[in-house]
Amino acid sequence: MRLDWHDYRYYPYERDLAAREVASLLGRHTMQVTIDGLELACEPEDDIVSRLTYFARAATGHDSLETVQSLLERTARSGKNRQATRYSVHGLHEYKGKFNPQVAKVLLNIFRVEPGHRVLDPFCGSGTTLVECAQLGATGVGIDINPFAVFLAKAKLQALGTPASKLRSLLNGLSANLRQTPQRPEFAHDNSRRQYLASWFTADLLETIDVVLAEVQKVAADIAPVFLAIASNLLRDYSLQDPRDLRIRRRVSPLPETPFIQAFLAQAERAIGNVEAAQAVLGGPRCLGHASLADVTVELPGTVPTPLDAAITSPPYAMALPYIDTQRLSLVWLGLVPPERILGLEAELIGSREFRGQARKRAVSALRANDGGLPDAELFLCRELEAALGENDGFRRRAVPFLLYRYFTLMKQSFKTVRQALRPGAPFGLVVGSNHTTIGGVRREIDTPLHLARLATTQGWFQEELIPMQTYRRYGYHVSNAVKSETLVLLRNS
Ligand SMILES: C[S@@+](CC[C@H](N)C(=O)[O-])C[C@H]1O[C@@H](n2cnc3c(N)ncnc32)[C@H](O)[C@@H]1O
Repeated sequence: MRLDWHDYRYYPYERDLAAREVASLLGRHTMQVTIDGLELACEPEDDIVSRLTYFARAATGHDSLETVQSLLERTARSGKNRQATRYSVHGLHEYKGKFNPQVAKVLLNIFRVEPGHRVLDPFCGSGTTLVECAQLGATGVGIDINPFAVFLAKAKLQALGTPASKLRSLLNGLSANLRQTPQRPEFAHDNSRRQYLASWFTADLLETIDVVLAEVQKVAADIAPVFLAIASNLLRDYSLQDPRDLRIRRRVSPLPETPFIQAFLAQAERAIGNVEAAQAVLGGPRCLGHASLADVTVELPGTVPTPLDAAITSPPYAMALPYIDTQRLSLVWLGLVPPERILGLEAELIGSREFRGQARKRAVSALRANDGGLPDAELFLCRELEAALGENDGFRRRAVPFLLYRYFTLMKQSFKTVRQALRPGAPFGLVVGSNHTTIGGVRREIDTPLHLARLATTQGWFQEELIPMQTYRRYGYHVSNAVKSETLVLLRNS
């Protein structure tokens, strides 16, 4: 049998993962790599071949079978030679730090996750893993501490589980209402929300986005999250924040020319087109999986069905992206968090840079006393960084040893929680980026994947493999913040 590559340009790690999914799903046959794909000495079942990620089709003699992945990607190609990543519901929102869906899917294959299995994503973000699970027929169980992430993950699952014809008729209703310039309704308990939004939107735009919110809630009722996820994707672009900056800065660039409602309706039309195409490939809506709000360092919510069969995630970085900061507007607009809670919520995230007042005192004494019970390698690294601090290191750099210590401690705790929810022998795959910092005038590399793998072993995980993904980039990064290399950490529950 011959397996053909897709026609996009591959990164080396993708070819590596391709060989691994073949070995895992089809068995360890002799493989011959050709310019077009792989030659295999076997005749596997169609339904197994059709779930491969990195192959477009399988051919035996005159018969050829296109993979589900190829059919899905074909519905959302963004240019020749480029891998499509926004097929199905993946393009509903550009959540920062979003996973590459092909990586989530190939891990499901490498772990031999079957329809009916349950898979945890303990840092589910906008739900990439959960969507890939649903498309396979497995139940994705996601948790995240960010209410907006949970909102998006649920919205994506809801979009995939709702017949596209229904989404389209709701959109038609919305479009008709929004073109009639309806009155802005009064939202209950609206004051701090309104005041906050008024500082980031012109009066006209604030009027418009609140009209959109009210109309979506009225017309789409329980399906409203799908449309609100799409609208929230535009929010920063239409605000007075610089939409391209990871920090909150006032914009200098002009506001977009296309009116908000027109842009929203066009995006919704495109998104529904992608859902329709995906449902046609998958044979109908896929209503599987859920996401809940929880802090993985504490415990999983009681609603999580255990034991789970596998876990797949992209965890936060040490000193990570400000997931909350860049989404303040959506969090407040949707009423998910009152404005006065935002800073507190940001501080609760793993990888937060919060280092003031009590948080600072706690972080300093934790490193001194090794409150987190970290192994020597991680403890010494943090203490060494502290000892290396020089006179010229400012407030941000002086925080690094303590923030890194806090990150390692919380990740160690997460490994414990995840392990408790998984069955014995279950695999756990994490895509983790390395870090660097300059302290005392010297640039230091921090091999975060290696440290995390070691912390996991202290919690009963076996370290199976660390696979470099040299050129992998999570999208949504401002270039100067881009982490240029990541590692796939493969663990197994003991
Ligand atoms: C790299 S992002 C995950 C992105 C996701 N894979 C996607 O495709 O959208 C990491 C996530 O970890 C979440 N997070 C940070 N601290 C957490 C905690 N203590 N418990 C649960 N989630 C947390 C953040 O809110 C963020 O959404």
